[in-house]
Amino acid sequence: MSARRPTPGEGERSKPVTVSAIRNAKGGEPLVCLTAYTTPVAQALDASCDLLLVGDSLGMVVYGLDSTIPVTLDMMIAHGAAVVRGAKHALVVVDLPFGAYQESPAQAFRSAARILAETGCGAVKLEGGAVMAETINFLTQRGVPVLAHVGLQPQSVNALGGYAARGKQAAEAEAIVADARAVTDAGAFAVVIEGVVAPLAARITSTIRVPTIGIGASAECDGQILVTDDMMGVTFGHVPKFVRRYADVGAAMKAAAEAYAADVRARRFPGEEHLYGAPKPQVAAG
Ligand code: KIV
Repeated sequence: MSARRPTPGEGERSKPVTVSAIRNAKGGEPLVCLTAYTTPVAQALDASCDLLLVGDSLGMVVYGLDSTIPVTLDMMIAHGAAVVRGAKHALVVVDLPFGAYQESPAQAFRSAARILAETGCGAVKLEGGAVMAETINFLTQRGVPVLAHVGLQPQSVNALGGYAARGKQAAEAEAIVADARAVTDAGAFAVVIEGVVAPLAARITSTIRVPTIGIGASAECDGQILVTDDMMGVTFGHVPKFVRRYADVGAAMKAAAEAYAADVRARRFPGEEHLYGAPKPQVAAG
């Protein structure tokens, strides 16, 4: 008898993945997670993924911002609704952006309620460990499923002074373990661990009772997530060390634009097959 637990929705890929299925995937086949910001990308990724995250990384990836700090609740809701329209299988989770939840549990609830009601997504994600435990408890007690996010927290880049990996010093590593425990005890159904040294991610995974989803963390995590544009090769700037490139979509787009430009300039496009012909002249009777 195999001890392997099935991945959420396995064998019935069209069935929607639920929050409980993600929570119960602890120790099973690794969860497959990617970011999505638009309907067509969600449609392309949906069948392969257990979870699609509408990450506030969209501020940098889609809008060309320097950080995730200026991303607004309205931006997250617009993109969240677009992704929900394209996803039939994966659980869609939408990020609470900076400034929309840190003030108080009540503020977090108002923002989360708008996200759930206006997008139709299944859960929200927020950054922060022990300091966010009260808020996570407040949300989960009121019907808002929460995916937590510990380790490197991009919304705190101004306070942390950059995107360097976390947990190299013993004290910092202990604090991150305490964060992961605190968000689990507060009711998070899973925890994203970003940018920490690999042994620490493995230790957290064996310590907490809900799935860990790693990004720049460890293959020992209960699942993995990447920013889709990074792994597809759509982004042209710096690519983090933890990204494996599975395609070079950016190069394909550049080549297509060059071919189109050459055709337009040489009047090879549009061709006969792309034209709407004028109606045939009516032959007058008699
Ligand atoms: O915003 C985002 O895309 C994220 C993932 C990188 C985990 O938080």
